[in-house]
Amino acid sequence: MLKGEHYEIASDGTLIAMATKPGMPEAASSLADTLAEEKGAEEKLSAIAEKGGDQATTL
Ligand SMILES: [Fe+2]
Repeated sequence: MLKGEHYEIASDGTLIAMATKPGMPEAASSLADTLAEEKGAEEKLSAIAEKGGDQATTL
């Protein structure tokens, strides 16, 4: 699960960069919202993993 969030964060960052260059501010803004959600999920899963919740990192 945590690995998946990292993948999504990296993908969202790349897509935001791509959407910004051709002048697609609406898409970049929407993707920024998604990125914020992914970062929130990553923080929650990291906290679970730090407490020993292996399922947060392995699924
Ligand atoms: Fe996610």
